[in-house]
Amino acid sequence: MKTYTLNNGATIPAIGLGTFGSDRYQPQEIAEAVCGAIKAGYRLIDCASVYGNEAQIGEQLERAITDGLVARQELTVISKVWNDMHGPGDVLLSCAKTLRDLRLDYLDVFMLHWPFPNHHASGVGVDSRDPHARPFIAEEYLAVWRQMERLVDMDLVKSIAMSNMTIPKLEALLPHCRIRPALAEMELHPAFQQWDLFNYCISKNIRPVGFCPIGSPNRPDRDKTSEDIAATDLPAVKRIAAAHGVHPAAICVKWGAQRGEVVIPFSVHEKNYTANLRAVYSDPLTEAEMAEIAAADAHCRLIKGQVFLWPGAADWHSLWDENPSDAQ
Ligand SMILES: NC(=O)c1ccc[n+]([C@@H]2O[C@H](COP(=O)([O-])OP(=O)(O)OC[C@H]3O[C@@H](n4cnc5c(N)ncnc54)[C@H](OP(=O)(O)O)[C@@H]3O)[C@@H](O)[C@H]2O)c1
Repeated sequence: MKTYTLNNGATIPAIGLGTFGSDRYQPQEIAEAVCGAIKAGYRLIDCASVYGNEAQIGEQLERAITDGLVARQELTVISKVWNDMHGPGDVLLSCAKTLRDLRLDYLDVFMLHWPFPNHHASGVGVDSRDPHARPFIAEEYLAVWRQMERLVDMDLVKSIAMSNMTIPKLEALLPHCRIRPALAEMELHPAFQQWDLFNYCISKNIRPVGFCPIGSPNRPDRDKTSEDIAATDLPAVKRIAAAHGVHPAAICVKWGAQRGEVVIPFSVHEKNYTANLRAVYSDPLTEAEMAEIAAADAHCRLIKGQVFLWPGAADWHSLWDENPSDAQ
């Protein structure tokens, strides 16, 4: 099992199973995939309270551990604080609920899911907005981060992490973190490579975790636009997949793992999650193939986050500090 050592000395596998059902897959089938993936050799599971399936996953984790399929200490379990739990004391409550649902007594990684306290009900459309939505405010984020740090002090959580960040946000936060994030989860796939953010995190000894590594073909409709470019449709990815005799999805996974991010592809199908595991451990891409995919970057963000926009924001680029008026 290829692993990375994090800035706090903990280790994390190079590949994990995603568990977001994209409003399409049922909690029970995802939980069963978690069990199947552990049997297949996965040791990292990327969960979140907002995915609405931690209770079902917890049943499977408990069974896998009590049946001797895997020891607790061999597993790395990530979970995330949802945006409606940023208030005073809420992070501890969120952690307690996740621990109870996952039937664990500690989390390997607890992550702040988004840098805004803006949320939405499950299954909403692309035009849905939280009327109380607010922009990123570093001081408010740091108050939530202090709660995360206390969970490490209490030994409820081994590592803490951030998600959906930008370089300006990290620049504003990192100097003030008593415990620095061990990981930063971000959208990464051949059509959206985010080299600047990726390299920035590496330079700060924060390991990138790539979400939607295949380009999330079944993502919710609220995250789809007509301009979106599918990673698996990029001519370079298709050509290299044909040369290796695998599905383009496997090339996306291989490419992400090979450039140094933790990849967390989702699948409920044994054939696909075992193919993704195999992709990380066999038949590496050549340097020329890595370069060909790097050159194919379409700079196409899929998870734009429109539903988190606040009143007065220009458009979704504001969530990512990409509008000139967004200077922090
Ligand atoms: N931090 C965040 O804000 C955030 C945001 C989004 C996602 N995430 C995490 O990242 C994980 C992965 O992202 P994602 O689920 O959106 O998308 P993804 O992993 O890029 O794509 C998943 C889709 O690809 C298909 N697939 C998987 N392996 C395949 C293979 N070998 N061949 C063909 N098709 C394959 C799956 O279909 P089948 O099920 O039919 O195999 C599934 O619908 C999520 O589950 C979640 O844990 C985090």
